[in-house]
Amino acid sequence: MSTIVIYKTKYGSTKTYADWIAEELVCESVDAKSVKIEDLEKYDTIVYGGGLYAEMEKLLVELCDVNGDFTDKAAIKELIEYVKH
Ligand SMILES: Cc1cc2nc3c(=O)[nH]c(=O)nc-3n(C[C@H](O)[C@H](O)[C@H](O)COP(=O)(O)O)c2cc1C
Repeated sequence: MSTIVIYKTKYGSTKTYADWIAEELVCESVDAKSVKIEDLEKYDTIVYGGGLYAEMEKLLVELCDVNGDFTDKAAIKELIEYVKH
């Protein structure tokens, strides 16, 4: 049975985990950027991993929409700046 581990990473954590999983499974670990969908047909099992960022973005948007402007709060301001990029 052929297996591949595909990862998408922003800061590198997911690559580390993907490499560990691939090592255990004795298979390749590949960045999603370099994968073509047609290359995947030959695999029986595809493991995919990536960081989550959307939920935080949604939360911040809801927080600002429902509860007003929080941009003067230092901790939230940094996060808002981050998700805007
Ligand atoms: C600004 C920011 C927002 C994040 N939001 C979430 C989230 O909503 N849910 C979650 O489970 N993890 C969240 N994380 C954690 C990342 O998903 C986690 O650190 C992940 O391992 C990063 O993967 P990467 O290093 O491969 O990019 C967030 C991290 C950052 C920096």
